Order: sequence, then structure tokens, then C-alpha cells
Amino acid sequence: MCGIVGVTGNQNATDILLDGLQQLEYRGYDSAGIYVNDQHGDGFLVKEKGRIADLRALVGPEVKGSTGIGHTRWATHGVPSVTNAHPHVSADGRFFLVHNGVIGNFSGLREKYLADVELKSDTDTEIIVQLVGKFAAEGLDTFAAFRKVLSLVDESSSYAFLLMDKEDPSKLFVAKNKSPLLIGVGDGFNVVCSDALAMLNQTHDFIELTDGEVVIVEPQSIKILDQDDNEIKREPFHVDTDPEAVQKGAYAHYMLKEIDEQPGVMRKLVQEYFNEDGTVKIDQALLDDLSQADRLYIVAAGTSYHAGLVGKELFEKLANIPTEVHVASEFAYNPPLLSEKPFFIFLTQSGETADSRQVLTQVNKWGYPSLTITNVPNSTLSREATHTLLLHAGPEIAVASTKAYTAQIALEAILVKAYGEAKNIERAKEFDVAKELTKVANGMQELVDEKGKIEQIAKDLLATTRNAFYIGRGVDYALAQEAALKLKEVSYIQTEGFASGELKHGTIALIEDGTPVVAIITDPKMAAHTRSNAQEVIARGANVLFIASRDLAVAGDQIILPDIDPLLSPLVSVVPTQLLAYYASMQRGYDVDKPRNLAKSVTVE
Ligand code: F6R
Repeated sequence: MCGIVGVTGNQNATDILLDGLQQLEYRGYDSAGIYVNDQHGDGFLVKEKGRIADLRALVGPEVKGSTGIGHTRWATHGVPSVTNAHPHVSADGRFFLVHNGVIGNFSGLREKYLADVELKSDTDTEIIVQLVGKFAAEGLDTFAAFRKVLSLVDESSSYAFLLMDKEDPSKLFVAKNKSPLLIGVGDGFNVVCSDALAMLNQTHDFIELTDGEVVIVEPQSIKILDQDDNEIKREPFHVDTDPEAVQKGAYAHYMLKEIDEQPGVMRKLVQEYFNEDGTVKIDQALLDDLSQADRLYIVAAGTSYHAGLVGKELFEKLANIPTEVHVASEFAYNPPLLSEKPFFIFLTQSGETADSRQVLTQVNKWGYPSLTITNVPNSTLSREATHTLLLHAGPEIAVASTKAYTAQIALEAILVKAYGEAKNIERAKEFDVAKELTKVANGMQELVDEKGKIEQIAKDLLATTRNAFYIGRGVDYALAQEAALKLKEVSYIQTEGFASGELKHGTIALIEDGTPVVAIITDPKMAAHTRSNAQEVIARGANVLFIASRDLAVAGDQIILPDIDPLLSPLVSVVPTQLLAYYASMQRGYDVDKPRNLAKSVTVE
């Protein structure tokens, strides 16, 4: 949610900023801007509404320098426009600021300190840079002015700030609270970024920052200060990711590439989490903490929440441990009554989701143990939880999550296996997860090889419809919710994922002639019931597509899934639904990798 970049000490600052922003575009793409300063003190501010490509087109050859900051925006305060795009500038034209986050008390600050300043934008960010300008004009040096402003920002606020002072142009003043930020260590220069992916062409060595720290970054030095201005020494960590892994290669879109990568991700997880003798490789300290728990609380948002719904089935059915799944933004300020010995599992692809992080902060205050399951090593939720398990899915760039969802479910299954074995639970001991995941990988491959067929179905069923339904029972209902989210977010078709038996209690009123309904059938215990619910909507004119496991399929079912243990069936049944969403978006001519109004890493509450 908004991406920021900075560089100091490199003559190619403009290109480094633009290339970095391009990699961060998944975090927001409604407007963008850069400010670059050269050694003569000449500064260039370029901002544009739209994508990074639009900004790039505006940046002329004169925009050169060795220090600069950049921003790609997902609007919170103020519509997407050039005026509201960052960097924002102080009234005297001296200070330039980019910001990722939300300032909770911005209107109070404005009233109290800036009543006589004419603001140019509708953003909360501009208040901050105007305040720095005001305090500097009153005699504070830049660092002291910045510090003073930070002290005025309230607890609820989130920020990653990069500030430049035109009068001291080789320095970047950096601060963070809740929003992600890394310092990249270059050779003779340094960079700053919301996500390491932005700077992998410059460096693989990054320093993480913690909340409340302020940093002064210069070409040859990085000075990290705690809240009391004590200097902190921190070694960089190394990011192995190959820059090629964040390229589309021969694919037209990241979403399709990432759907296709899923069989490989399943195999990678088996490789990472199983020993040669078939035993599971999970840290004993994690299993010890888990074994103490009397109830699990899975907390997540969006697609990760849907992966949690499947996780609940796995934990309860295979390992007999009561498990609740919670939407992070709901849990954060309205927590349920907790059991005596809770254990928290945070599912988060990015490891940065503000809603989930808010819950983790609370859990840490309570002193309960936690696990973050994430795709991003060293991400905030990974650092702040007691334990971390990595998804090993490779960077997920498309805004709509695909391979992270299946990796999360597979890793939950692996964890259940390890936990069940540790607790000597028969059903878990018998469940051969490694073998099942290998079957899943082969099954996924069969399905991704059926693209032509699914593209045709999307054309017939979804090219022009206004609404659609996914229905199922048990894990098929969990899957229906994810399938519906995927379809609505990339094709803008209003889609509901519904418990098939619940339709008749009201929602069936929405079924009209030709309404597309996709029925998912993978569990023998519930197949007949879902089929009869499908008949009820057919009788009211719905156009029903059946997606069924091979051993439950009947004549007329259009998409046949390979046979997988029903508890893991979402790993295969999700694949055709991802492809349906992708092709529906193509049919309708949308930008599938960057759907409107969305951003990948949601770092505001
Ligand atoms: C939808 C999607 C989102 C994310 C959600 C949580 O395709 O990607 O719903 O799942 O924003 O993000 P993470 O998993 O990074 O916490």
C-alpha cells in the first residue's frame, strides 16, 4: 500500500528510483512521483497521475542527480491526482517528503500548527512536510525539526517517511512506524525501499528497521538512532532472491505465471519440510509451543483468511485441536473470549498486512506464543512473531494472490502432520502429507494444462454477466469464498461464495435466467446435497458449471478434478477457479495484474 524508494550517492538516481518504483507498483498505482537533487543543489520534482510508465514518460533528460526519493500511491486521503501525488513539498520549497501510511491526527495537527499555511493537497502527508518546514523556519535543524514532528504524530498513525532537505541534498532522513522500510547497502551509495524487490538490481544486502527508529542515510554511512537518539549498530541481512524471479519472462501476466508455478511450489514445500526418511522438518520449539495450546487462533485477511478456513478443517479433523479463524481487522479491536492457552497463527503472504500486525502487537502484549506463516523472510510479522514458517513460493507480484494461497494450505497441512505426530494422534500419523502433496502437484499440472478449455468456459459463462456465484459445502464452501474473491477482484463481476445449503434461506432470490453458478463438489459426504442445491438454482434459470472430483463426477460435469484427499481438495479445485478469474478479466479487457482500487501489500488499517 504505497511504495517508497530513495537513493543517495549514485549518479543514476533517477533511473534507480524509476526502476525501483516499477517493482513496487503492485503496492499502489494511482499516481507516482520523484524528487531528484544534483550536487549543485538543483532539484527536479516530477509527479503524474496514473502508472509508473506515465511518470517515466514525463521525466526528461535534465532530471538527473545523485540523491532522490520516489513514491507510488494507493490513495488514502485525497483522490488520485497530480496534486495529491507524492513527494509533497514544504511551503518554502526546501523540504520534500514521501510517505507510506496514514497519519491519524493530521487534522488536529493542521488546526493547531498550520492554520495560516495554505495547503496544496488534500493529503495527510503534506501536513508533515509543512510542519518540518515550519519548525525549521523557527530555527531547528532538519533532524530536530523532523524529530519534533514525529513526536507530534499520534500512536494510531502508521508511517514510513523519506525526507530530503534541498539545503543538505546528500542526506535522506528516514523514519518508520508500522509501515515497512528497509535500507539497502550499496557499493559507495545507499538506498531505501518499502520492499527489497525494488532494489535487487542495486544490492542484496538490507538492514531492517524497527518502529520508532530514525535513520540518516548518506552515501557512505547509515546512522540508525533509537527513540532516545542512541546510535544502534545493526548488520545487514542477505536477500537471495534472483532479480529474474520478479520478471514475467514469456508470460503476458504475472497472475498466469504464478498460477502455473503452483505445482513447483508444492514440490518445493515437500523438499523444504520433509527429511529423506519422510519425517517432517519443523522446529521443535514451535512444536513445543503448539503442543501446549488448548485452542488455535488463525488470524488473517482476504485470501490468506480463506486459506485459514481450510487450515481450521485440517487442524480439527486431522489433529483434534479446536481452531478458530478470524478476520484480522475484526479481531484487532473486537477480540473474542480467548481460551486459557491460546496459540496464534498469522497467515500473511506479504508479512506486512497492517490489520494482522495490529493483532500480533496485541498478542505480544498479552504474552501469548505465535507463528507467522509468510512468503517474505524478515517481514514485519515474521520478525515480531515467536516463530516463522516460510512459504517458499517465490515472489508473488500479481495483486491477486494465487500461489501463496495454495502454499499456505500445503504448509498448514505439513504443520498439522508435525503437530499430530508430536501429540501421537493416529489420524495425523496416518495422513501421508508428502505423498498427497506430490499427488496435488501432478493434479495441478493436469489442470493448468487445460487452459484452452477453461478459457472457453470463461468466455461462455463470464464474459458479460453482472453477477455470479460459487457454491459448495465444507472445504468446498471455504474454496467457494476464495474463488469468489478471485473472480470479483480481477473481473469486477459481483460474485458471492456461498454455502450451497444456505442459498435457499434468502440469497436464491438473486438467481435469474442465465445467472452463472459454479458448484464445487469434492467431498463424498456432501456431494449429493450440493448437487441437489445446484438443481434448485437450475430450476430457477441458473447456468450451472460443475467442478467435481473424478470419483464423484457424473455425466455433464465440465471440469473434472484429480482425486485428492477431500481435506486437501482446495489445492486442486482452486486452480480452475483462478484460471476462470484470469480469463474473465481478459475477456473484459482489464489489467489483471493490477486491478482497480487494490494494492498488494495492505499496510494501512
Ligand atoms: C487477494 C489478496 C488479498 C490478500 C490480503 C492479505 O487476492 O491477495 O486479499 O490476501 O490483502 O494479504 P497478506 O496475505 O499479505 O497478509
